[in-house]
Amino acid sequence: MDLQKKTNRYNRIYLQIEELLKKSHDDLAHMATINAVLYHKMDYFFWCGFYRLVEGTLIVGPYQGPVACQILEKNKGVCWSSINQQKTIIVPDVHLFPGHIACDSRSQSEIVIPYFDKNGKIKGVLDIDSKEKNSFDEIDAAYLEKIISLI
Ligand code: SME
Repeated sequence: MDLQKKTNRYNRIYLQIEELLKKSHDDLAHMATINAVLYHKMDYFFWCGFYRLVEGTLIVGPYQGPVACQILEKNKGVCWSSINQQKTIIVPDVHLFPGHIACDSRSQSEIVIPYFDKNGKIKGVLDIDSKEKNSFDEIDAAYLEKIISLI
């Protein structure tokens, strides 16, 4: 997607999500709402969802798209790398990422953003897959980090 078009779309989506999340103080409702908006407004998002860190295990949370792995093998793949490094990871080509976990063979590129509680403790990740290579860049990273800080 054209960079200006992407920025404009994220600006609109951010405002929409900010308004929607005022309607409850429930994390699960927030996560489900964020997914629904992102999946239906960003046409290159093939899969979009949360993995929650629960007692040392990464378990799938609300998501949109094809059926995904429920539990991710510990310390393997992109989501665990994001947890362990506590930072956003952009993967231009999933086939080149050592240990990448393919829940759906159609995924070609991916971005994973960690989210934190109010004390800065990591709670899980937002994971987004695309069917095209090189779909995600620093614009996606910046806006998605801003969006999930609203949870
Ligand atoms: N690719 C991820 C697994 C989750 S699916 O993409 C939905 C990973 O390597 O951690």
